[in-house]
Amino acid sequence: MPSQIPLLLLFMISPLLLAAPPPVSAQLSPEFYETSCPDALSIIGASVRAAVAGDPRVAASLLRLHFHDCFSDREQGCDASVLLDDVAGSFTGEKTAFPNRDSLRGFEVVDVIKASLEVACPLVVSCADILAVAARDAVAALGGPLWTVQLGRRDSTSASLSSTNSDLPSPFSDLNTLISAFAKKGLSIIDMIALSGSHTIGQARCTVFRTRIYSDNNVNSSFASLLRSKCSIFGKDNDLSPLDMSTPTVFDNGYYKNLLSKRGLLHSDQQLYLNESGLVSSRVSLYAKNSTKFFRDFASAMVKMGNIGPLIGENGEIRTNCRKIN
Ligand code: HEM
Repeated sequence: MPSQIPLLLLFMISPLLLAAPPPVSAQLSPEFYETSCPDALSIIGASVRAAVAGDPRVAASLLRLHFHDCFSDREQGCDASVLLDDVAGSFTGEKTAFPNRDSLRGFEVVDVIKASLEVACPLVVSCADILAVAARDAVAALGGPLWTVQLGRRDSTSASLSSTNSDLPSPFSDLNTLISAFAKKGLSIIDMIALSGSHTIGQARCTVFRTRIYSDNNVNSSFASLLRSKCSIFGKDNDLSPLDMSTPTVFDNGYYKNLLSKRGLLHSDQQLYLNESGLVSSRVSLYAKNSTKFFRDFASAMVKMGNIGPLIGENGEIRTNCRKIN
């Protein structure tokens, strides 16, 4: 297990190196909209539940939108930059970045939520906060944990295609690269392992797991051959398979159970369980056995992720339309 040896050393030498304190903002608070828009959270929750009832995959797509928003900007984090549309000749957003193009979904659900909020309390609730609350309600709608969402983020007036390309982890990454991508955002290895449990719901395109099922050696053979029948070596790039084949629309600890039997869909997923020893593998085994522990760690890591570089105070703006700067 060569890739976990330096990791083990790092753990022993200084856990702090691996888990820099997250950039928590003292100004974010769960009560932020209590007087300015008291129905904000119920409006968001109702829209998310309705959308998920129509298409359970929407829950996964909303959760991923918040992740890509928080990881996408070098200076700023969860600022709704991911929602901005390109404007030909004048503005380049993040939607065409490699991790987002032909892949991110859920924008229409955010539009519906924003339109309702603009009727209830115009220019009050940010698109960045909508994403944070919608992610929480989406997870809960599929049976996952609930947590208290910190609020008060404002929306960016810029976006960064280049940092979206550089900062979002790739499905072809190895373990140490994944750890660095999360550490760069102030998230620990435990946060990374817990957040990766998001892949208990949702779908991935053939193009992101083809090399896994044709070239990786740490893959369950019947799992790989079943997937090869759906994802041919050429073509079918956009054909989908569930990230957790057993319970794709239930937020449970199935993702970790899959890893124990080499059924991680992405190369990056299986990197969390390369063999039976090592601190990362032990955490995967723990979550596979104990879903309460997974839920608790996932909820706390989601709060940390939501605290990445928010715009607060007079910075940024409250967009009237999440796709456009005012
Ligand atoms: C550890 C590094 C990660 C990598 C390399 C990664 C990569 C990917 C890839 C390649 C897909 C499939 C995209 C497609 O085929 O269009 C995907 C889907 C997804 N990811 Fe991740 N991801 C990671 C972490 C996360 C985290 C931290 C979250 C949430 C907090 C997340 C949530 C999701 C969800 C819910 C889906 C399914 C989306 C849908 O069905 O619309 N991922 N991820």
